[in-house]
Amino acid sequence: ANQRTLSIIKPDAVAKNVIGEIESRFEKGGLKIVAAKMLQLSDEKAGGFYAEHKERPFFKDLVGFMTSGPVIVQVLEGEDAIAKNRDLMGATNPKEAAPGTIRADFAETIDANAVHGSDSPESAEREIAYFFAADEICPR
Ligand code: CMP
Repeated sequence: ANQRTLSIIKPDAVAKNVIGEIESRFEKGGLKIVAAKMLQLSDEKAGGFYAEHKERPFFKDLVGFMTSGPVIVQVLEGEDAIAKNRDLMGATNPKEAAPGTIRADFAETIDANAVHGSDSPESAEREIAYFFAADEICPR
């Protein structure tokens, strides 16, 4: 089915100047960028986004990392966009990510892992609404 998913290009990848290379993976993989913006996240905004991880031992480091520099937040659209995006990203831990995936090619550690993608239709809906108003999304 046609789906939308929330994608974040994280501070490590923005700092490495590989925004374009990552976007190219999405576009070549059949996904369309239908909304995008660059943001410097606050502790509150990053913490709210990752609220489901609040009790995890890595939460503080995760928020610290996600606020360490600007990110690109975006909505990707396409056939099975949620799963397709996760295939293109590779495993959360870059050391376990399959060759040719974004995380294998651009990420170093499980914290600085280049990209985030929604993991289910429910989280996609919540995550898209967390960053975008309806009129900021441009289906095409
Ligand atoms: P992301 O998909 O953005 O969702 C939560 C993030 O927490 C994850 O990517 C990782 O960057 C980070 N993280 C750090 N340690 C862990 C861990 N042990 N398990 C899962 N995610 C982790």
